[in-house]
Amino acid sequence: MPPVVRYLTAGESHGKALVAILDGFPAGLRVDVEAINAELRRRQGGYGRGARQKIETDEVEILAGTWHGVTIGSPIALLIRNRDYKLERLPDLPRPRPGHADLAGALKFEDGIRPVLERASARETAARVAVGALCKQLLAAFDITCFGFVLELGGIRAEPVTEDLARWPAIRSSSPVYTLNPAADRAIVELIDQTAQEGDTLGGIVEVRVYGLPYGLGAHTQWDRKLRGRIAQGILSIQAFWGVEFGLGFEAARRKGSQVHDPIHFDPDRVQERSLGFIRSTNNAGGLEGGMTNAQPLIVRAAKKPISTLRRPLESVNFDTLEPMRASYERSDVCAVPAASVIAENVVAFHVAEAFLEKFGSDTLQEIRRNLDGYYAALREQIRARLNSRAGGQTSASASHEDDDPE
Ligand SMILES: Cc1cc2nc3c(=O)[nH]c(=O)nc-3n(C[C@H](O)[C@H](O)[C@H](O)COP(=O)(O)O)c2cc1C
Repeated sequence: MPPVVRYLTAGESHGKALVAILDGFPAGLRVDVEAINAELRRRQGGYGRGARQKIETDEVEILAGTWHGVTIGSPIALLIRNRDYKLERLPDLPRPRPGHADLAGALKFEDGIRPVLERASARETAARVAVGALCKQLLAAFDITCFGFVLELGGIRAEPVTEDLARWPAIRSSSPVYTLNPAADRAIVELIDQTAQEGDTLGGIVEVRVYGLPYGLGAHTQWDRKLRGRIAQGILSIQAFWGVEFGLGFEAARRKGSQVHDPIHFDPDRVQERSLGFIRSTNNAGGLEGGMTNAQPLIVRAAKKPISTLRRPLESVNFDTLEPMRASYERSDVCAVPAASVIAENVVAFHVAEAFLEKFGSDTLQEIRRNLDGYYAALREQIRARLNSRAGGQTSASASHEDDDPE
C-alpha cells in the first residue's frame, strides 16, 4: 500500500527549477498561492544569508492538481524557477568541502563534486516549503496551526517573551532573525556580523509548535506508525539538521519521573474543546504520548549545525592530485538559522497533515470534516455517558486499583 500522502522533490541548486509532486492530497481546498509565496520569501530571508537570496525571488507555479484554484484530489505539481540558472556553465570543484556531501558523493557517484553539491544544496528546501505551505492551508481549514521560530542562535538564547499566541506572528515578523524575543535580537545580529568578519559561520536551535491537534494522530501499534519517529525523520532529513527533541527532550533524561510526566486532570466544563476536558498541567511530552498526539500542543525542537562552507576554508585535499589544499569556497551564507525555522515549520506541517489524512480520510475536505466531527461526537458521547453514570453514583470499582505495569 502506498502512503496516504507523499511527496518527492527534484531539482539542482543552479538548475532550471525545483519541482515537487504532492500525491494523495484531498480535493476541495482553495489554494492560496500568495500564502505559499509568502512562506518561500520567509525561507529566503533572515539576517545572515548570502548573496544568492538577492538573486532569487521564489514564486510557486502550480502546474497540475487544481481546477479553478481548488485542489481536485490529483497529484499536485509545484514548480519554483531558479533565476540563477547556470548549471551547464559551472565548473567542477577541485577539492571537497568539509561538512558537505562532496567527498562521499563524488566517490560514490564517480562523476565529480559539482553534480553532488548541486542536489545536496539546501536550495532543495524551497520545494519542501511549498509542499508544507500547502499542508498548512489544509490543517488551517481544521483549526490546526503550525508556528516555527528561532530559539537560539550561535549560543544566544531567545526564549519567547510571551505565550500569547495571538502576538507571535507580529513579534516574529518584526525580528530580523525570526525570534520571539526582541531583546535578544540585537546581540544575535551583532554576533552574526562579527562572525561574518571572521570568515566563520553560525548554527542554532529552532522550535516548531502545532496547536489545535486532535487525539490520535499517529499510532502506538508499529514502529513506523509512531508520529514522533516520523517527524524526527522529516526533521533530520533537512540539510544541516543534526538533532531533534520533543517537549522536554534531552532534559527529561536528567530529571526524575515525577518532574517529567504530565499529570492528567478532568474539567467537565471543557468537554467541548479538542482536549475533551482532559487537562494537562504541563506539556513536557510535547504533545505526543505513545507515538500519538494527545491533543496538547506539539513541541519540536531541532539543532542546525553552522554553515559548512567557510570564507576562511578548512583543510581539504585536491581531488586530482590528493595534495593538501584549502577547501573550495562557493558563495555561501553565514547563518541560515532563521530560514531553517521556516523549513522545519513546513516539514512538520507535512508530517502532521499526513497523519491527519490517515486518520480522517484523504479524498475530500467534506469527507475529512464529517470524519473529524463524527470522531469527536463519538468521544464526547462516551465522556457524557461516564459523567452521567458518575452523577448516578456508579463510581468505578477500580478507581484505587493499581494496574500492573506491563513493562
Ligand atoms: C536554509 C539552509 C541554507 C543553507 N545554506 C548553506 C550555505 O550557504 N552554505 C553551506 O555551506 N551550507 C549551507 N547549508 C547547509 C548544507 O546544505 C548542508 O550542510 C550540506 O548539504 C550537507 O548536509 P548535512 O549537513 O545534512 O550533512 C544550508 C542549510 C540550510 C537548511
